[in-house]
Amino acid sequence: MERLLNKRIEKLDNFGRGIIREQGIIFVDDTLKDDLVDIEIVKDKKGIKEGRVINYLERSPYYRESICPYSKECGGCHIINLLYQEQLNYKKNKVQELIDKMLKENIKVKDIISSNEEFNYRNKITLHGDNKSLGLYKKKTNDLVVIDECKLVDDKINAIIKRLKEYILKRDILIYEVTIKTTTLNEQMLIVRGRLDYEDFRKSFTDIKVIIINDQVITKDKYIKERLLDKEFYISNRSFFQVNEYTTKMLYQKVIDLVKDKNFKRGLDLYCGTGTISLLISPYVEEVQGIEVVEDAYLDANRNKELNGIDNVQFILGKTEDNLDTFNDIDLVIVDPIREGLDSKTRNNLKRIKPKQIVYVSCDPVTLMRDLVDLKELYEIEEINICDMFPNTYHVESVCVLTLR
Ligand SMILES: C[S@@+](CC[C@H](N)C(=O)[O-])C[C@H]1O[C@@H](n2cnc3c(N)ncnc32)[C@H](O)[C@@H]1O
Repeated sequence: MERLLNKRIEKLDNFGRGIIREQGIIFVDDTLKDDLVDIEIVKDKKGIKEGRVINYLERSPYYRESICPYSKECGGCHIINLLYQEQLNYKKNKVQELIDKMLKENIKVKDIISSNEEFNYRNKITLHGDNKSLGLYKKKTNDLVVIDECKLVDDKINAIIKRLKEYILKRDILIYEVTIKTTTLNEQMLIVRGRLDYEDFRKSFTDIKVIIINDQVITKDKYIKERLLDKEFYISNRSFFQVNEYTTKMLYQKVIDLVKDKNFKRGLDLYCGTGTISLLISPYVEEVQGIEVVEDAYLDANRNKELNGIDNVQFILGKTEDNLDTFNDIDLVIVDPIREGLDSKTRNNLKRIKPKQIVYVSCDPVTLMRDLVDLKELYEIEEINICDMFPNTYHVESVCVLTLR
Protein backbone atom coordinates (compact mmCIF):
# COMPACT_ATOMS: atom_id res chain seq x y z
CA MET A 1 0.00 0.00 0.00
CA GLU A 2 1.26 3.45 -0.94
CA ARG A 3 1.95 5.63 2.09
CA LEU A 4 1.92 9.41 2.24
CA LEU A 5 3.50 11.03 5.26
CA ASN A 6 3.13 14.38 6.94
CA LYS A 7 0.08 15.60 5.00
CA ARG A 8 -2.26 18.43 5.99
CA ILE A 9 -6.04 17.99 5.49
CA GLU A 10 -7.17 20.89 3.33
CA LYS A 11 -10.90 20.81 4.05
CA LEU A 12 -13.89 18.50 4.46
CA ASP A 13 -15.86 17.42 1.40
CA ASN A 14 -19.68 17.42 1.15
CA PHE A 15 -19.82 14.10 3.03
CA GLY A 16 -17.56 15.12 5.90
CA ARG A 17 -14.44 13.37 4.56
CA GLY A 18 -11.07 15.07 4.72
CA ILE A 19 -9.43 16.07 1.43
CA ILE A 20 -5.76 16.04 0.50
CA ARG A 21 -4.74 17.24 -2.96
CA GLU A 22 -1.74 15.31 -4.15
CA GLN A 23 -1.60 14.10 -7.75
CA GLY A 24 -5.37 14.31 -7.84
CA ILE A 25 -7.62 14.11 -4.85
CA ILE A 26 -7.49 11.81 -1.82
CA PHE A 27 -10.46 11.41 0.51
CA VAL A 28 -9.60 10.50 4.09
CA ASP A 29 -12.24 9.39 6.62
CA ASP A 30 -11.95 10.38 10.30
CA THR A 31 -10.07 13.60 9.68
CA LEU A 32 -10.77 17.31 10.07
CA LYS A 33 -9.55 20.43 8.33
CA ASP A 34 -5.93 21.17 9.43
CA ASP A 35 -5.21 17.69 10.85
CA LEU A 36 -1.61 16.69 10.04
CA VAL A 37 -1.55 12.97 9.22
CA ASP A 38 0.30 10.00 7.80
CA ILE A 39 -2.01 7.97 5.58
CA GLU A 40 -2.02 4.87 3.46
CA ILE A 41 -3.97 4.64 0.23
CA VAL A 42 -6.66 1.96 0.53
CA LYS A 43 -8.45 2.51 -2.79
CA ASP A 44 -7.50 4.01 -6.13
CA LYS A 45 -10.17 4.08 -8.81
CA LYS A 46 -9.26 6.07 -11.89
CA GLY A 47 -7.25 8.60 -9.91
CA ILE A 48 -9.85 9.05 -7.17
CA LYS A 49 -8.13 7.78 -4.09
CA GLU A 50 -9.24 6.94 -0.58
CA GLY A 51 -6.81 7.01 2.30
CA ARG A 52 -6.77 5.72 5.87
CA VAL A 53 -5.01 7.51 8.70
CA ILE A 54 -2.13 5.57 10.19
CA ASN A 55 -0.87 8.41 12.38
CA TYR A 56 -2.27 11.71 13.60
CA LEU A 57 0.81 13.95 13.88
CA GLU A 58 -1.18 17.04 14.91
CA ARG A 59 -4.89 17.28 15.55
CA SER A 60 -6.93 20.10 14.12
CA PRO A 61 -7.64 23.09 16.43
CA TYR A 62 -11.35 22.29 15.78
CA TYR A 63 -11.03 18.72 17.11
CA ARG A 64 -12.91 17.43 20.13
CA GLU A 65 -13.16 13.95 21.65
CA SER A 66 -16.29 12.04 20.67
CA ILE A 67 -18.71 11.50 23.54
CA CYS A 68 -20.01 8.37 21.82
CA PRO A 69 -18.23 5.02 22.33
CA TYR A 70 -19.59 3.70 19.01
CA SER A 71 -19.01 6.69 16.73
CA LYS A 72 -15.90 5.37 15.01
CA GLU A 73 -17.42 1.99 14.24
CA CYS A 74 -20.97 3.13 13.43
CA GLY A 75 -19.99 6.08 11.25
CA GLY A 76 -23.44 7.69 11.40
CA CYS A 77 -22.08 10.86 13.05
CA HIS A 78 -19.69 11.95 10.33
CA ILE A 79 -18.47 15.10 12.07
CA ILE A 80 -18.94 14.33 15.78
CA ASN A 81 -15.26 15.20 16.37
CA LEU A 82 -15.75 18.75 15.10
CA LEU A 83 -16.54 21.57 17.56
CA TYR A 84 -20.18 22.58 17.13
CA GLN A 85 -19.48 26.14 15.98
CA GLU A 86 -17.15 24.69 13.33
CA GLN A 87 -19.86 22.24 12.26
CA LEU A 88 -22.04 25.26 11.51
CA ASN A 89 -19.19 26.96 9.65
CA TYR A 90 -18.57 23.78 7.65
CA LYS A 91 -22.25 23.61 6.63
CA LYS A 92 -22.38 27.29 5.79
CA ASN A 93 -19.19 27.09 3.70
CA LYS A 94 -20.39 23.98 1.94
CA VAL A 95 -23.61 25.70 0.80
CA GLN A 96 -21.71 28.93 -0.03
CA GLU A 97 -19.23 27.02 -2.21
CA LEU A 98 -22.08 25.39 -4.10
CA ILE A 99 -23.74 28.78 -4.59
CA ASP A 100 -20.47 30.22 -5.94
CA LYS A 101 -19.77 27.24 -8.16
CA MET A 102 -23.22 26.45 -9.52
CA LEU A 103 -25.26 29.67 -9.34
CA LYS A 104 -22.36 31.98 -10.13
CA GLU A 105 -24.21 34.87 -8.51
CA ASN A 106 -23.24 37.17 -5.72
CA ILE A 107 -25.49 35.55 -3.11
CA LYS A 108 -24.34 34.97 0.44
CA VAL A 109 -25.89 32.45 2.85
CA LYS A 110 -28.05 34.70 5.00
CA ASP A 111 -29.16 33.17 8.30
CA ILE A 112 -27.93 30.07 10.07
CA ILE A 113 -30.54 28.43 12.25
CA SER A 114 -28.59 26.31 14.72
CA SER A 115 -29.93 23.44 16.80
CA ASN A 116 -30.46 24.16 20.50
CA GLU A 117 -29.31 20.62 21.25
CA GLU A 118 -26.17 19.13 19.75
CA PHE A 119 -27.13 15.71 21.15
CA ASN A 120 -30.34 13.89 22.09
CA TYR A 121 -32.26 15.85 19.46
CA ARG A 122 -33.69 13.04 17.29
CA ASN A 123 -37.26 11.87 17.82
CA LYS A 124 -36.76 8.69 15.80
CA ILE A 125 -34.30 5.82 15.37
CA THR A 126 -34.29 2.53 13.45
CA LEU A 127 -32.29 -0.33 14.93
CA HIS A 128 -31.50 -3.72 13.46
CA GLY A 129 -31.45 -7.02 15.31
CA ASP A 130 -29.14 -9.97 15.33
CA ASN A 131 -30.04 -12.90 17.59
CA LYS A 132 -29.91 -11.29 21.04
CA SER A 133 -28.71 -7.81 20.16
CA LEU A 134 -29.91 -4.53 18.75
CA GLY A 135 -27.75 -1.99 17.03
CA LEU A 136 -27.00 0.21 14.07
CA TYR A 137 -25.47 -0.85 10.79
CA LYS A 138 -21.87 0.19 10.27
CA LYS A 139 -21.61 2.76 7.46
CA LYS A 140 -22.19 1.21 3.98
CA THR A 141 -22.47 -2.36 5.39
CA ASN A 142 -24.96 -4.68 7.05
CA ASP A 143 -22.50 -5.33 9.92
CA LEU A 144 -24.23 -4.71 13.20
CA VAL A 145 -22.69 -2.34 15.74
CA VAL A 146 -24.42 -3.34 18.96
CA ILE A 147 -25.36 -0.27 20.99
CA ASP A 148 -26.87 0.43 24.40
CA GLU A 149 -27.77 4.00 23.49
CA CYS A 150 -27.38 6.56 20.72
CA LYS A 151 -26.18 10.06 21.61
CA LEU A 152 -28.33 11.65 18.90
CA VAL A 153 -31.68 10.42 20.12
CA ASP A 154 -34.04 11.68 22.78
CA ASP A 155 -33.49 10.14 26.24
CA LYS A 156 -36.99 8.65 26.07
CA ILE A 157 -35.85 6.60 23.07
CA ASN A 158 -32.67 5.48 24.84
CA ALA A 159 -34.77 4.28 27.78
CA ILE A 160 -36.88 2.19 25.35
CA ILE A 161 -33.75 0.75 23.70
CA LYS A 162 -32.61 -0.43 27.13
CA ARG A 163 -35.99 -2.04 27.86
CA LEU A 164 -36.12 -3.69 24.43
CA LYS A 165 -32.69 -5.21 24.91
CA GLU A 166 -33.68 -6.58 28.33
CA TYR A 167 -36.92 -7.92 26.85
CA ILE A 168 -35.13 -9.72 24.01
CA LEU A 169 -32.54 -11.26 26.34
CA LYS A 170 -35.21 -12.98 28.43
CA ARG A 171 -37.06 -14.54 25.48
CA ASP A 172 -36.53 -16.80 22.52
CA ILE A 173 -37.51 -14.24 19.91
CA LEU A 174 -35.92 -12.43 17.00
CA ILE A 175 -36.32 -8.75 16.18
CA TYR A 176 -34.98 -7.95 12.71
CA GLU A 177 -35.75 -4.28 12.84
CA VAL A 178 -37.38 -1.82 15.20
CA THR A 179 -38.20 1.85 14.70
CA ILE A 180 -38.86 3.95 17.77
CA LYS A 181 -40.59 7.32 17.46
CA THR A 182 -41.33 9.77 20.24
CA THR A 183 -42.83 13.26 20.55
CA THR A 184 -42.53 16.15 22.97
CA LEU A 185 -46.07 15.29 24.11
CA ASN A 186 -44.46 12.10 25.44
CA GLU A 187 -46.20 9.70 23.07
CA GLN A 188 -44.22 6.80 21.64
CA MET A 189 -44.55 4.44 18.69
CA LEU A 190 -42.74 1.11 18.19
CA ILE A 191 -42.67 -0.44 14.73
CA VAL A 192 -41.27 -3.94 14.97
CA ARG A 193 -40.37 -6.58 12.40
CA GLY A 194 -39.56 -10.02 13.70
CA ARG A 195 -40.59 -13.32 15.16
CA LEU A 196 -42.24 -12.70 18.52
CA ASP A 197 -45.38 -13.18 20.63
CA TYR A 198 -47.55 -10.10 19.93
CA GLU A 199 -49.60 -10.36 23.14
CA ASP A 200 -46.59 -10.81 25.38
CA PHE A 201 -44.92 -7.83 23.71
CA ARG A 202 -48.01 -5.63 24.12
CA LYS A 203 -48.31 -6.55 27.83
CA SER A 204 -44.66 -5.72 28.40
CA PHE A 205 -44.89 -2.28 26.78
CA THR A 206 -48.32 -1.07 27.94
CA ASP A 207 -47.05 2.52 28.27
CA ILE A 208 -46.27 2.71 24.52
CA LYS A 209 -49.16 4.38 22.71
CA VAL A 210 -48.76 2.67 19.34
CA ILE A 211 -47.21 -0.73 18.65
CA ILE A 212 -47.07 -2.13 15.14
CA ILE A 213 -45.66 -5.62 14.62
CA ASN A 214 -45.11 -6.93 11.10
CA ASP A 215 -47.47 -4.23 9.73
CA GLN A 216 -50.24 -5.08 12.21
CA VAL A 217 -51.29 -2.42 14.70
CA ILE A 218 -51.71 -4.25 18.03
CA THR A 219 -52.68 -1.25 20.15
CA LYS A 220 -55.95 0.69 20.38
CA ASP A 221 -54.26 3.78 18.93
CA LYS A 222 -52.67 4.13 15.51
CA TYR A 223 -51.13 7.61 15.78
CA ILE A 224 -48.89 9.58 18.05
CA LYS A 225 -49.31 13.31 18.39
CA GLU A 226 -46.77 16.15 18.23
CA ARG A 227 -47.18 19.87 18.93
CA LEU A 228 -45.29 22.35 16.77
CA LEU A 229 -45.80 26.09 17.27
CA ASP A 230 -49.56 26.56 17.77
CA LYS A 231 -50.72 23.38 16.02
CA GLU A 232 -50.89 19.66 16.76
CA PHE A 233 -50.15 16.86 14.32
CA TYR A 234 -50.95 13.17 14.20
CA ILE A 235 -48.12 11.01 12.90
CA SER A 236 -48.67 7.44 11.74
CA ASN A 237 -46.33 4.61 10.86
CA ARG A 238 -45.29 5.50 7.31
CA SER A 239 -45.61 9.28 7.45
CA PHE A 240 -42.58 11.49 7.16
CA PHE A 241 -42.03 13.82 10.10
CA GLN A 242 -39.00 16.04 10.71
CA VAL A 243 -36.68 14.49 13.33
CA ASN A 244 -35.40 17.52 15.26
CA GLU A 245 -38.33 19.18 17.02
CA TYR A 246 -36.58 22.41 18.02
CA THR A 247 -34.96 23.13 14.64
CA THR A 248 -38.16 22.11 12.84
CA LYS A 249 -40.07 24.77 14.79
CA MET A 250 -37.43 27.34 13.82
CA LEU A 251 -37.60 26.20 10.18
CA TYR A 252 -41.40 26.36 10.03
CA GLN A 253 -41.38 29.76 11.78
CA LYS A 254 -39.00 30.96 9.07
CA VAL A 255 -41.42 29.73 6.38
CA ILE A 256 -44.33 31.48 8.15
CA ASP A 257 -42.31 34.72 8.39
CA LEU A 258 -41.57 34.53 4.67
CA VAL A 259 -45.25 34.13 3.82
CA LYS A 260 -47.21 36.26 6.29
CA ASP A 261 -48.09 39.90 5.58
CA LYS A 262 -47.77 39.30 1.84
CA ASN A 263 -51.49 38.79 1.15
CA PHE A 264 -51.02 35.66 -0.90
CA LYS A 265 -54.28 34.25 -2.15
CA ARG A 266 -53.67 30.73 -3.41
CA GLY A 267 -50.78 28.64 -2.14
CA LEU A 268 -49.44 25.22 -3.06
CA ASP A 269 -47.47 23.06 -0.59
CA LEU A 270 -45.71 20.42 -2.67
CA TYR A 271 -44.40 17.26 -0.95
CA CYS A 272 -46.54 18.23 2.03
CA GLY A 273 -46.14 15.14 4.26
CA THR A 274 -48.58 15.28 7.17
CA GLY A 275 -49.62 18.78 6.11
CA THR A 276 -47.42 20.62 8.61
CA ILE A 277 -46.45 23.58 6.42
CA SER A 278 -49.89 23.90 4.72
CA LEU A 279 -51.63 24.05 8.08
CA LEU A 280 -49.10 26.40 9.70
CA ILE A 281 -49.34 28.95 6.87
CA SER A 282 -53.13 28.61 6.50
CA PRO A 283 -53.92 31.73 8.62
CA TYR A 284 -51.85 33.89 6.26
CA VAL A 285 -53.25 32.85 2.85
CA GLU A 286 -56.78 32.55 1.49
CA GLU A 287 -56.37 28.91 0.52
CA VAL A 288 -53.69 26.22 0.34
CA GLN A 289 -53.49 22.92 -1.49
CA GLY A 290 -50.98 20.30 -0.44
CA ILE A 291 -49.77 17.37 -2.55
CA GLU A 292 -48.35 14.19 -1.01
CA VAL A 293 -47.63 10.76 -2.48
CA VAL A 294 -47.64 8.56 0.65
CA GLU A 295 -51.20 7.61 1.52
CA ASP A 296 -50.64 7.42 5.30
CA ALA A 297 -49.16 10.92 5.31
CA TYR A 298 -52.03 12.22 3.14
CA LEU A 299 -54.56 10.69 5.55
CA ASP A 300 -52.66 12.19 8.51
CA ALA A 301 -52.74 15.57 6.76
CA ASN A 302 -56.54 15.40 6.51
CA ARG A 303 -56.79 14.31 10.14
CA ASN A 304 -54.49 17.18 11.13
CA LYS A 305 -56.64 19.66 9.25
CA GLU A 306 -59.63 18.50 11.29
CA LEU A 307 -57.66 18.35 14.56
CA ASN A 308 -56.70 22.00 14.17
CA GLY A 309 -60.14 23.14 12.91
CA ILE A 310 -58.80 24.46 9.60
CA ASP A 311 -61.04 24.78 6.55
CA ASN A 312 -59.03 26.63 3.89
CA VAL A 313 -56.64 23.73 3.11
CA GLN A 314 -57.15 20.76 0.79
CA PHE A 315 -54.84 17.82 0.25
CA ILE A 316 -54.29 15.84 -2.92
CA LEU A 317 -52.97 12.27 -2.88
CA GLY A 318 -50.47 11.63 -5.65
CA LYS A 319 -47.14 12.61 -7.11
CA THR A 320 -46.39 16.31 -7.38
CA GLU A 321 -45.18 15.87 -10.96
CA ASP A 322 -48.46 14.22 -12.01
CA ASN A 323 -50.76 16.79 -10.46
CA LEU A 324 -49.55 20.23 -11.47
CA ASP A 325 -50.71 20.48 -15.11
CA THR A 326 -54.13 21.94 -14.31
CA PHE A 327 -52.98 24.55 -11.77
CA ASN A 328 -53.08 28.27 -12.67
CA ASP A 329 -53.46 31.49 -10.69
CA ILE A 330 -51.24 30.41 -7.82
CA ASP A 331 -49.23 33.16 -6.18
CA LEU A 332 -47.24 31.13 -3.61
CA VAL A 333 -45.57 27.72 -3.92
CA ILE A 334 -43.70 25.96 -1.12
CA VAL A 335 -41.66 22.91 -2.05
CA ASP A 336 -40.02 20.53 0.43
CA PRO A 337 -38.91 17.57 -1.70
CA ILE A 338 -36.84 14.52 -0.81
CA ARG A 339 -33.08 14.56 -1.58
CA GLU A 340 -33.63 14.10 -5.33
CA GLY A 341 -35.09 17.61 -5.47
CA LEU A 342 -37.57 18.69 -8.16
CA ASP A 343 -37.91 16.73 -11.39
CA SER A 344 -37.93 18.60 -14.72
CA LYS A 345 -41.72 18.22 -15.14
CA THR A 346 -42.30 19.96 -11.81
CA ARG A 347 -39.77 22.71 -12.58
CA ASN A 348 -41.39 23.31 -15.98
CA ASN A 349 -44.81 23.53 -14.38
CA LEU A 350 -43.51 26.03 -11.81
CA LYS A 351 -42.17 28.13 -14.69
CA ARG A 352 -45.55 27.91 -16.43
CA ILE A 353 -47.61 28.72 -13.30
CA LYS A 354 -45.25 31.58 -12.39
CA PRO A 355 -46.15 32.06 -8.69
CA LYS A 356 -44.98 35.40 -7.28
CA GLN A 357 -42.96 33.60 -4.62
CA ILE A 358 -41.44 30.15 -4.24
CA VAL A 359 -40.12 28.98 -0.88
CA TYR A 360 -37.79 26.02 -1.42
CA VAL A 361 -37.02 23.89 1.66
CA SER A 362 -34.26 21.46 0.75
CA CYS A 363 -32.39 18.64 2.47
CA ASP A 364 -29.75 18.40 -0.27
CA PRO A 365 -27.88 21.54 -1.31
CA VAL A 366 -26.59 19.92 -4.52
CA THR A 367 -30.05 19.20 -5.98
CA LEU A 368 -31.23 22.56 -4.60
CA MET A 369 -28.56 24.39 -6.63
CA ARG A 370 -29.34 22.34 -9.74
CA ASP A 371 -33.01 23.37 -9.44
CA LEU A 372 -32.15 27.01 -8.72
CA VAL A 373 -29.98 27.16 -11.85
CA ASP A 374 -33.10 26.26 -13.83
CA LEU A 375 -35.58 28.45 -11.92
CA LYS A 376 -33.35 31.54 -11.94
CA GLU A 377 -34.26 32.07 -15.62
CA LEU A 378 -37.51 33.50 -14.24
CA TYR A 379 -36.80 34.01 -10.55
CA GLU A 380 -34.63 36.26 -8.43
CA ILE A 381 -32.96 34.26 -5.65
CA GLU A 382 -33.71 36.53 -2.72
CA GLU A 383 -32.19 34.61 0.13
CA ILE A 384 -30.68 31.27 1.08
CA ASN A 385 -30.68 30.31 4.75
CA ILE A 386 -29.37 27.16 6.33
CA CYS A 387 -30.77 25.19 9.17
CA ASP A 388 -28.95 22.60 11.30
CA MET A 389 -31.54 19.87 11.51
CA PHE A 390 -28.91 17.11 11.99
CA PRO A 391 -25.99 18.13 14.27
CA ASN A 392 -22.89 15.89 14.12
CA THR A 393 -23.74 14.73 10.59
CA TYR A 394 -22.81 16.34 7.26
CA HIS A 395 -26.48 16.90 6.38
CA VAL A 396 -27.71 20.44 5.95
CA GLU A 397 -31.20 21.79 5.39
CA SER A 398 -31.69 25.01 3.41
CA VAL A 399 -34.57 27.44 3.05
CA CYS A 400 -34.50 29.52 -0.05
CA VAL A 401 -36.79 32.30 -1.26
CA LEU A 402 -37.39 33.04 -4.94
CA THR A 403 -39.41 35.94 -6.31
CA LEU A 404 -40.71 36.27 -9.85
CA ARG A 405 -38.62 38.77 -11.81
C1 LIG B 1 -38.85 16.15 3.10
S1 LIG B 1 -40.47 15.52 3.31
C2 LIG B 1 -41.36 17.01 3.65
C3 LIG B 1 -42.70 16.83 4.30
C4 LIG B 1 -43.32 18.06 4.95
N1 LIG B 1 -43.17 19.24 4.17
C5 LIG B 1 -42.80 18.25 6.35
O1 LIG B 1 -42.15 19.27 6.64
O2 LIG B 1 -43.05 17.39 7.21
C6 LIG B 1 -40.89 15.10 1.67
C7 LIG B 1 -42.26 14.49 1.49
O3 LIG B 1 -42.49 14.31 0.08
C8 LIG B 1 -43.17 13.08 -0.13
N2 LIG B 1 -42.90 12.73 -1.54
C9 LIG B 1 -41.84 12.07 -2.05
N3 LIG B 1 -41.91 12.03 -3.40
C10 LIG B 1 -43.04 12.70 -3.73
C11 LIG B 1 -43.64 13.04 -4.98
N4 LIG B 1 -43.10 12.65 -6.13
N5 LIG B 1 -44.78 13.76 -4.96
C12 LIG B 1 -45.34 14.14 -3.78
N6 LIG B 1 -44.83 13.84 -2.57
C13 LIG B 1 -43.68 13.15 -2.55
C14 LIG B 1 -42.61 12.18 0.93
O4 LIG B 1 -43.49 11.12 1.19
C15 LIG B 1 -42.48 13.14 2.12
O5 LIG B 1 -43.66 13.16 2.88
